[in-house]
Amino acid sequence: MSQHSLNVVALISGGGSNLQALIQDSQRPDAPYKIVGVLCNRPDAGGLKHAERAGIQQVIIDHHNFDGREQFDQAMVESIDNWQPDLVVLAGFMRILTPGFVTHYLGRMINIHPALLPNYPGLDTHQRAIDAGESHHGASVHYVIPELDAGPVIMQAKVKVLASDTASDLAARVLTKEHQIYPQSVRWIAEEKIRFNNNQVYLDGELLPPNGHQTSD
Ligand code: GRF
Repeated sequence: MSQHSLNVVALISGGGSNLQALIQDSQRPDAPYKIVGVLCNRPDAGGLKHAERAGIQQVIIDHHNFDGREQFDQAMVESIDNWQPDLVVLAGFMRILTPGFVTHYLGRMINIHPALLPNYPGLDTHQRAIDAGESHHGASVHYVIPELDAGPVIMQAKVKVLASDTASDLAARVLTKEHQIYPQSVRWIAEEKIRFNNNQVYLDGELLPPNGHQTSD
């Protein structure tokens, strides 16, 4: 473990392959962060097993048990803040968050989205990119602001769209990239290479362009 260690809480809803990539990276001796808790809104989420295997505390808060988004988000805040996170990482968390929740974690909550933002916010990104005849698709890590999938981008990775691609072929190649750029982004935040200020992202003190830092193969 390096000298400073960032406390990270991850929020998941599904299979948790990004969570697993983060857990594996955080277990390397040079990792400047550790995952202190996992919050999940689905009791049956496959990703919970990754947290369990790694001995990471997990809390399940089922959104079905709440009358509305405000109450659900308030319960999440109470749980998340018990872990005193420096950073909240959305790793396939499939609920729309209230502005109050987002504002509470502004500048310390990031998401990974399977598209080259600002293109293709929302769902079904791979099929939409294929249908539009895009030559490239990819993934973006971004800070979370109240508007969905619209926060400033930290990092992007591109993949080529192949003529033979189905949405699931493309999703699988994009996911491989996600597993690289998410841990890399968390490391850079932990190392304070990345900073969020006034809705903009800086890398080593330089303002990043709207599509963030571009990774190369
Ligand atoms: C990923 O495609 C991610 O970009 C999106 O949700 C999916 C989560 O996958 N936000 P996993 O649960 O991490 O495997």
